[in-house]
Amino acid sequence: MKHAFTVTGNLDAPVAVTVAAYLDCEHYIHLHKSLTDSLEIMGVKGRVITVRQSWKWFGLKLGHFKDCEYIPPCEFKISNVMPAPWWLPSIHHFVSIDTYLTYIENKETDSTDFRFDVELDMPFWLYPLRGFMQGLIEKMHVRQNVEDMELIKRREKLFGRGNISPYVAEHHFMYHKDEYVKHFGKAGRAVRA
Ligand SMILES: [Fe+2]
Repeated sequence: MKHAFTVTGNLDAPVAVTVAAYLDCEHYIHLHKSLTDSLEIMGVKGRVITVRQSWKWFGLKLGHFKDCEYIPPCEFKISNVMPAPWWLPSIHHFVSIDTYLTYIENKETDSTDFRFDVELDMPFWLYPLRGFMQGLIEKMHVRQNVEDMELIKRREKLFGRGNISPYVAEHHFMYHKDEYVKHFGKAGRAVRA
């Protein structure tokens, strides 16, 4: 049985920056350490990156695999979330979770509106828990946004609003950097230093 919901909101940063922060995977395990201990890239197929995201629990590495797709310039899809290791008793054996995040430029305030679509597919006996699961996902999404905005604001103070240079610096590892630069490179050059 399917349960879908949408979260909308605004992030106070230009869209070139919010997209860069999303693709800036170097920050994931430092900034979001409450949400993840480790992140490994298991494979890359075009714009789809399969990652293993894990948490340490009594010496075990528990977590899940997921496919993360970048749809340039401003969309992100997560699908095929599976337990890792496969024998791990996990909600992902019963519930499939697909998410679709869209960032939209808000020209009026030079900021980013977002739309986060989530679809849960679950057996009928878990369906009564859909509200609870929605609450958990919404809470995690808010937390991630708050932490991302802390990073964005710190960099904004140092480099100026809209300056993407710290994200695209040569030494900095970023998902789909070429693709990103193709779409946002001009915005980066045009920024205030
Ligand atoms: Fe983040």
